Amino acid sequence: MKATVLTDLMVRDHGKIMKMLHDVEKSIGMELVSTMKVFDTFEWELEKHMFVEEKAIFTSYNPKNVSAGYRMMPHLIQQHNELFNKLQVMRKDLTWQRHVKFEEFRQLLLDHKTFEEESVYPKLDQELSVKQKEEIIKKIREILP
Ligand SMILES: [Fe+2]
Ligand SMILES: [Fe+2]
Repeated sequence: MKATVLTDLMVRDHGKIMKMLHDVEKSIGMELVSTMKVFDTFEWELEKHMFVEEKAIFTSYNPKNVSAGYRMMPHLIQQHNELFNKLQVMRKDLTWQRHVKFEEFRQLLLDHKTFEEESVYPKLDQELSVKQKEEIIKKIREILP
């Protein structure tokens, strides 16, 4: 197993999600039903991703440095909640064909992605045992293809 297995797997999924956000943006100006279909797919993927992180990955983490480790988790969950809320706002704006704040959403997503890719996943890859990673990957595979 590669030492960076979790990072690699989740970076790949982040790339997929960023591309899907771009697809939503590109679909603006199409018939509303088509745009909403593209948005549904994006929302589904992002929510699955955050579900996997919260239920299968972050919960398996028992940090060596307890205070720093446990401080990281509420921060991540808070960012997820903000993303969930902004998804709802985006859905409403799309439905009512109002201006959609793509730039704001993309920036939020990018900041979160960078934090996970630079600080969270490398730490998990370093601190978790091969057995723990195997268990996590099995769960990830059940949700993310
Ligand atoms: Fe996340
Ligand atoms: Fe993520």
